[in-house]
Amino acid sequence: MTKRSWDTIPESEVTPEEVYLDRRQFIAAAGVAGAAAAALTPEGIAAAVRTVRAQRGASQEAQEYTWGAEMQDELSSYDLVTGHNNFYEFGTGKGDPARYSGEFRPRPWSVEVSGEVNKPGTYDLDDLYDPSWIEDRIYRLRCVEAWSLTIPWRGFALRNLISRVEPTSNAKYVAFETVYRPDEMPGQNRRVLDWPYVEGLRIDEAANELTFLATGLYGRDLPNQNGAPLRLVVPWKYGFKHIKSIVRIHFQETMPPTTWNLSAPQEYGFYANVNPNVDHPRWSQATHRVLPGIRRTDTLMFNGYADQVQHMYAGMDLARWY
Ligand code: MTE
Repeated sequence: MTKRSWDTIPESEVTPEEVYLDRRQFIAAAGVAGAAAAALTPEGIAAAVRTVRAQRGASQEAQEYTWGAEMQDELSSYDLVTGHNNFYEFGTGKGDPARYSGEFRPRPWSVEVSGEVNKPGTYDLDDLYDPSWIEDRIYRLRCVEAWSLTIPWRGFALRNLISRVEPTSNAKYVAFETVYRPDEMPGQNRRVLDWPYVEGLRIDEAANELTFLATGLYGRDLPNQNGAPLRLVVPWKYGFKHIKSIVRIHFQETMPPTTWNLSAPQEYGFYANVNPNVDHPRWSQATHRVLPGIRRTDTLMFNGYADQVQHMYAGMDLARWY
């Protein structure tokens, strides 16, 4: 099993296990010789889960996809990932998105791809990506509020979609927009932020191998509170860049506005790369809490993904371009 460059989470932190299953059955499914390696990589986990599903029947797949008790302080449980959220369209409390997103309808869904591309269009979600692009990846999510979760995403690399729509040479940035549906998203009836939520990346960031559009987590479709049916995952950036429930992807020449920068420009920049050396004006970013615990862990430069991304910022003053 090859370890891919972004699989930075140490093996000791990652042991998938089925709490509803006998551990030996899971290891057997993963393949005895490959068990340790399988535990380490998204492919290994996906392969093992597929085998288990085939053995047990797909109906139980969601419940079966969980992690070993001994690792729960390192890998975030399904309940935590889907119960502790930031999604202000459904309220500002961490439990609000799970509580108030029941009316939200993530299907049917279409995404408009527009601007500086040779192949603009409005794509039904199922036509936006090729099923062969789908993969599972485990990434740490570091929120700017100094907590982190480690989440097994399902989805596809944004670079696949970028190649398909053929950006022109004027495409220097990619702008993303969340759906605006105040009838289904109660938080949009309050002016906590300027709706719709918008985010953006530089084109090379968007095309980086790590940049991911998630359609699921823990092997099942994204729950509404996590940004169904399509959300961005950029693991070296603070969580607020991970825009949810995306309806528009626009390629453009100029740097697009971003919601938190508009809301508090002195606190949130465009790049928002995880950086333990640059504090938030109101708190330190040197450490964070690994939820659900209270223990603090050192925050790593680029959230531990420096090898894959630091070349994109050569020559930039990372303190100034926070
Ligand atoms: N996207 C939208 N549209 N609205 C939001 O309020 N919150 C962001 C980001 N994406 C947010 C959003 C923040 S601050 C974080 S930390 C992550 O979503 C949280 O993602 P999660 O709830 O799936 O862990």
